[in-house]
Amino acid sequence: MTQDEMKAAAAAAAIEYVEVGMIVGIGTGSTANHFIDQLAKIKHKIDATVASSVASEERLKGHGITVLDLNTAGALSLYVDGADESNKSLHLIKGGGGALTREKIVAAASEKFVCIADESKLVDVMGSFPLPVEVIPMAQSYIGREIVKMGGTPVLREGFITDNGNVIIDVHNLSITDAVKMEADFNRLAGVVTVGLFAERPADVLILGTPNGAVTV
Ligand code: A5P
Repeated sequence: MTQDEMKAAAAAAAIEYVEVGMIVGIGTGSTANHFIDQLAKIKHKIDATVASSVASEERLKGHGITVLDLNTAGALSLYVDGADESNKSLHLIKGGGGALTREKIVAAASEKFVCIADESKLVDVMGSFPLPVEVIPMAQSYIGREIVKMGGTPVLREGFITDNGNVIIDVHNLSITDAVKMEADFNRLAGVVTVGLFAERPADVLILGTPNGAVTV
């Protein structure tokens, strides 16, 4: 089975969490795209969706699925999204696609967060995948210096501006043994909009695509 087929298997398994009349929060990335395509098959069952990025919104609308603004939708029962890395506590690194701020908002507004990924995303210690941090542009150099003090290597994502008009610093060389503390440490820095660590609000369910099909962690 290819990596993409494993992503598709995890996405298909997440459809079981969708119930009649729900407004479903939708993440961003290739695994979330598989979920959107599966959701299209049962679109009559749900009321609407809320998208975490312009790209996902366009894909949902392309399938004729209603997309609401989060302020209109209110609290969500379910959020389904991919991840760049997960540990066994279901703490996640997200933001490889740069949509981390909207993803964190939609995840926070949702009762249940179902994360879908291929099995390569589950690691013992997170940090091999560079940690994305969305930053207000004028704070970029200051935050870069603070990241060095924290033991990381900051690399500006060249030529990339987020949906919110900010820049992304990808932090290399971190070994994230206490994700809750590290998330709080980043959140204390002036100029940080969002750190791509989802530890204070981790996933509730992790569905991994494996060569033998989908497995729930
Ligand atoms: C988007 O900003 C990310 O958080 C994605 O959820 C993450 O990059 C996973 O992407 P894939 O599903 O494409 O691996």
